Amino acid sequence: MAATAPFIAGNWKMHGLCAQLDQLRILADGLANHPSPARVAVCPPATLLAQAAHMLMGSRVELGGQDCHCEASGAFTGDISAEMLADTGARLVILGHSERRTLHGETDAMVSAKVVASLRARLEPIVCVGEHREDREAGRAAPVVEGQLAASLPDRLAGARFSVAYEPVWAIGSGVTPSSDEIADVHDAIRRVLRARFGEQGARVRILYGGSVKPDNAAEILRIAEVGGALVGGASLAAADFLEIIAAA
Ligand code: PGA
Repeated sequence: MAATAPFIAGNWKMHGLCAQLDQLRILADGLANHPSPARVAVCPPATLLAQAAHMLMGSRVELGGQDCHCEASGAFTGDISAEMLADTGARLVILGHSERRTLHGETDAMVSAKVVASLRARLEPIVCVGEHREDREAGRAAPVVEGQLAASLPDRLAGARFSVAYEPVWAIGSGVTPSSDEIADVHDAIRRVLRARFGEQGARVRILYGGSVKPDNAAEILRIAEVGGALVGGASLAAADFLEIIAAA
């Protein structure tokens, strides 16, 4: 495990109506009753952020969005700017998730512009990268991820607080995870890129693993060198599961 406390972030994706806000209360109460050294964040749908921010005030749970537009405002129907996320009380934002890259055609250049936007709004970005199954099978996982990092991380990140999430696309929502060695290899490659690019700062950036992290595999994954936390999808929806993952950190 990395020297700093692990960072466990939940990505609710397009799940959650007002009724699910109860899960945040259970999460905050659970952390208050069983303190953990982990840093904890939840990224619910944008529709819940303002209420969630109100509910989590004074708790250790940080709040993030799941995407943002690169402009601060404008004629972009349906989009949400980084400034709008910050205005709700969010302090983080997931950017470049593979579902955005695949289903919304987001390129590395677009992700990089969104990262710049997040910094402009004083949001801390969690930048996602990860290979498709064909890349993995062709032995190209690390080079693909290195390429994504090179083009998705703007120079403006120098001196800023951010995390990288390694999420193999084939592991997301599939119940299948890479072996510990496979995770370690890609995390080592990411660390080399971050060091080369950002020097001492790059040695400290947290690298999260994401893709089918569950209560029963979290401890093993979080023990891997250079795994500094987890980005958790499905298992973050129920506070009880998420608290078990946090307890494993
Ligand atoms: P999962 O999703 O934990 O449901 O696999 C992870 C993610 O997409 O961030």
